[in-house]
Amino acid sequence: MTSYDDLRKKIEEINDPGFKKPFGEVNGIKKLVVGPTGVAELEIYLKDKAKYEQQVKIEIIKLVKIELGFPGIKIEFLESEFVPEGEKPMKYLAIASGKGGVGKSSVTANLAAALIRKGKKVGIIDADVYGPSIPNVLQLEVKPLSSTADEKMIPLNKNGIEVISTEFFMPPEKPLMWRGPMLGKMLVHFFNGVKWQDDIDLILIDLPPGTGDVALDVKSYVPKSKIMVVTTPHINASSIAVKAGIGAQNIGHEVIGVVENMSYYLNTCNQKREFIFGEGGGDAVAKKLGVPVFGQVPIGQPLDGSFIFGGKEEAGKVYNLIADEVIKEMEI
Ligand SMILES: Nc1ncnc2c1ncn2[C@@H]1O[C@H](COP(=O)(O)OP(=O)(O)OP(=O)(O)O)[C@@H](O)[C@H]1O
Ligand SMILES: [Mg+2]
Repeated sequence: MTSYDDLRKKIEEINDPGFKKPFGEVNGIKKLVVGPTGVAELEIYLKDKAKYEQQVKIEIIKLVKIELGFPGIKIEFLESEFVPEGEKPMKYLAIASGKGGVGKSSVTANLAAALIRKGKKVGIIDADVYGPSIPNVLQLEVKPLSSTADEKMIPLNKNGIEVISTEFFMPPEKPLMWRGPMLGKMLVHFFNGVKWQDDIDLILIDLPPGTGDVALDVKSYVPKSKIMVVTTPHINASSIAVKAGIGAQNIGHEVIGVVENMSYYLNTCNQKREFIFGEGGGDAVAKKLGVPVFGQVPIGQPLDGSFIFGGKEEAGKVYNLIADEVIKEMEI
């Protein structure tokens, strides 16, 4: 019978189709043991798992059972986090809140704009597939996407911010009637099928409200994504934000900080801050999650009538500081 070493060598020689390199060169084997009854147990790191899992599974089963004669095989795949030498790792930061309408999409878009002001290269995945709002917040003109020779989608771009959103795939003014499997498929393409600009520093993920499925999907597609939690100062929003944050921590995501949005209204007559939605939500969430508050964004609308604050406006300055914290925490 084939020895363990032979088995390992043969598996190391199989190609990871995502990397177009053998598993031996891309740290593809997480676990390989042969049990007392001769059953081979494998855990394999695979790039673009959703796309290649079936194909590679068949290849490995054929090798182990038919070619090498092992009596049985148990095999599991995990998304690979290997970064080939000389390549920059893709970094992701998901924006979560639990409660809807607290300003995730506004914060995501304004943070992207602030990062651009700091000279960073940024993209946004609008993962709110049923209620995409990033194109609207950025006032991005939707047009048909083009793709690369290897069929990756080229994102649209507004003021340097690259965006991918289900909005680009919908007939205008028709609600999206998709359900589970289609939704999952769409997200896979957003995580693995997009050709972002070269040397992109950070991809922000605008999550839908709630603590549910999409957060889990993010975990399986981009296991290393970090999370930033948005809340309002109000206790209702903050208690649900805590749940979203703890949920993310429980599945192994690192929460890096909290943004409190709609924190106060700056009275322009006397320059005093008026805390019309109460106080303390951001601090409470940060304390429970054991992370800092990155900033408190005031209530208001950008001067130019868009949804993106300029860097010299009160809220824009807060976003500049939040961007500094994100740059530090994400090491970009
Ligand atoms: N600091 C702010 N001052 C005033 N209005 C704001 C502020 N932040 C967000 N808004 C407004 O509040 C509304 C909700 O914001 P947004 O869509 O960003 O929230 P969301 O958390 O992404 O919502 P959803 O859960 O529906 O995705 C929008 O109309 C937005 O313009
Ligand atoms: Mg939103």
